[in-house]
Parts: sequence; structure tokens; C-alpha cells
Amino acid sequence: MYAKIRHMRYTFPKNFLWGAATSAHQIEGNNKNNDWWAAEQSGLLPHKSATACDSYHRYEEDFDLAKGMSNNAHRLSIEWSRIEPREGEFNQKEIDHYKKVIAALKERGLEPFVTLHHFTNPTWFARAGGWTWDKAPERFGRYAQHVARHLGPDVRFWITINEPLVVNSAAYLSGRWPPFFTRAFIRSLRATRAMVEAHKYAYHAILTERSDAQVGIAKNNNYFESVGSGVRGFLNQAIEKSSTYVKNTWFLDAIANYQDFIGLNYYSHYKIDLGRIYQEGSERSDFDWVIYPEGLYHVLKSLQKYHKPVYITENGVADEDDDQRPSFIREHLRWTHRAIEEGVDVRGYFYWSLLDNFEWAEGFTKRFGLVAVDFETFERTPRESYGVYKEICQNNGL
Ligand code: FCB
Repeated sequence: MYAKIRHMRYTFPKNFLWGAATSAHQIEGNNKNNDWWAAEQSGLLPHKSATACDSYHRYEEDFDLAKGMSNNAHRLSIEWSRIEPREGEFNQKEIDHYKKVIAALKERGLEPFVTLHHFTNPTWFARAGGWTWDKAPERFGRYAQHVARHLGPDVRFWITINEPLVVNSAAYLSGRWPPFFTRAFIRSLRATRAMVEAHKYAYHAILTERSDAQVGIAKNNNYFESVGSGVRGFLNQAIEKSSTYVKNTWFLDAIANYQDFIGLNYYSHYKIDLGRIYQEGSERSDFDWVIYPEGLYHVLKSLQKYHKPVYITENGVADEDDDQRPSFIREHLRWTHRAIEEGVDVRGYFYWSLLDNFEWAEGFTKRFGLVAVDFETFERTPRESYGVYKEICQNNGL
């Protein structure tokens, strides 16, 4: 019903942050010291990130595009394997590089949201056992401290880890991502627990370097919806509750006292019936993911219990011809607005992604960008949705 009231004006709160998100390995190019790169070269992954968008060199052009879209914030990640290419050896040149990157954002009036871990691990860390290594949390904390010491003065908002459960299930359960384990339940659990600890280490480390820092994670939460009534409905509801707990709630509960805000990545809606968890709907992206904007509202509402500000740190669609993206953005924002009206303290929205980029195991085939990228020439071309999002950011609403 709500989505049908099209004549309404949806104004967002004052100082709302509008931005787009990226991650280092997906756009920088030549991140040669991490586990993804190694698996790409050895053929364990079907695609190579290679030079990606060459954003390592073209970041100013990218930030001009973000500024041109009237964004006032931007989410990006630091590549751990650049900062610490060998265990305990920190590369000052790369720190200086990221200092310049952050300065370039600030010059353009873009508030940096910096992620410390977005899926990739330094090769030395992966070889030692990755997130199942008993020293993993401490090593991550040390890296976080080092980065915060150097970039802390210029960065207030920090995301320690992106989507801990997504990366661990792809790495240890479905075997799609490095180190390609399938059904390694104990490993997956160990890795996830290590990420909880790693987050806490990083949380303290960042706050030691900058007392007014705001630290969170980017949590991928799905909207699970059970169907049916009677006994069937009752059983479905039980599965819905347990799925929601395992997938959405558990990790956030575990770090509840160690986060200043919640970063939410929302992409998916699942229905639950007779033990089946499935996607249903005719509106699907190029990834075949069902588009279900109302789910964002439900997921936002479920975060209210934490009494923390929420930033939508990712929400986007793979849509090469850009015929779904404009309405995708509008509808998700309408539902976000409703959640805000009902008291959820949402303070920002980062569309995924600013640019077409290296979409992990799918390579360059899935195009999420507001800006199209030609991966031969690196030419950037704003899509129609770039203009749509720009208008929303300019008006602080729609
Ligand atoms: C999220 C990831 C991001 C991107 C989008 C499509 O799960 O955080 O890097 O791949 O999905």
C-alpha cells in the first residue's frame, strides 16, 4: 500500500549521508598479495581481477563522479595485503597512498567510511590458516591499529569487517571462495568466532587512536518470510525465526556492546515453506536475485532493538542495461523512509556500487555500477540511474 502513494514527498533527515560504496579488490587492480589474487592466477577461480577499474590510479576521477552526483559521503576499503604484505611488515608507501585517497575524498566534501576487511586476506595470513588461525584476531587488531594510527585524524567512520557470515559461508561451507572448503562446519564456526574477536580488537584499537571514532561492521541481513497458516505456518515460522537468528541476529548480538552504529547491507528476500528456503518473484536482477524493496523496511525495523544509528552500507542491483536500477533505488528509499518515520534511526545510504567492478567469482559479468566502466579503456560513463540518484541526493529525498 505504502509503495503505491507516489505523489508523496519523501524528505530524509537533516544531515543524511548519501553515497556509494566500493571495495579495494573489486576496483583498484593488481592487488597481488592476497588470497583472491593467488586463486585467480592458479585457476581456482574462473575470473581474474587483473587491473579491475584501475582505481588505484584513477581514484580522483572516481571521486569527481561521486561529487558530481551530489554525494556527501563515500564508502571504500583499505587493502590489508597492501598495508601489511608480509607478516609484521607495514608498507609506509601504501599508507601514504591511502592518506592521499582520503584527502581526495575530503577535498570533495565526501565523508569517508573506511572498511578494513572486505573479503580478501593477505597471502601470509591465508597460509597461516586464515580466520581459523588462532592468532587471526590479534593480527587483524594490529593491522587495524596501524591503519587507525595513520588515518585516524582524517577518518571518523570505520567498518571493521564486511559481511562476516557471507565470506565465511562462501569460504567454508559452499566452497565458492578461497580457501574453497565445503561443509567445513567447524572451520566456519571457528572463523566466525574469530571475526567476532577480531572486531573487538579493532574496535578498541580504533578508539584508542581516535576517541570520537564511530565503529561498526557491515552486516548482510536478509528478509526471511514464512508462508502458510495452521501447523504448516507454525513450522514455517519456527524455521523463519531460526534462519533470522543465525543469518541476521547472532553476529550483531555478539558484538552489541562493541559497535557505535550498525552497517546494513541489504540485497535478498527469502520465503520459507515446508523446509524450503527460496526466492520467489518475477522481478529479478541480472544476478537472478529477486528484487524486493519492502524487505529492506522489515530488516531495518528488526534493527531497532539495538538502539544504534543505522547506515545502509550497501544496497544495489546488477543491471547492465539500467532499466531496473532507477526504480530499484527509488523503491528501496521509499521503504527506508517509512522505517525512519516509524522511528528507525537511519542516517545514511550507500548505493552498491559507484562503478561496475570485479564481482568476485562472477568476474566482470555482473554490473552494479551507477557508472559503467569499459574494462579495456577504463572509460567511465554515467548511466541514467546516476542522474536519478543525483537528483535524490540534491533534494535530500524524492
Ligand atoms: C556484497 C559484497 C559486495 C558486492 C555486492 C554485490 O555482498 O559486499 O562486495 O559483491 O555483494
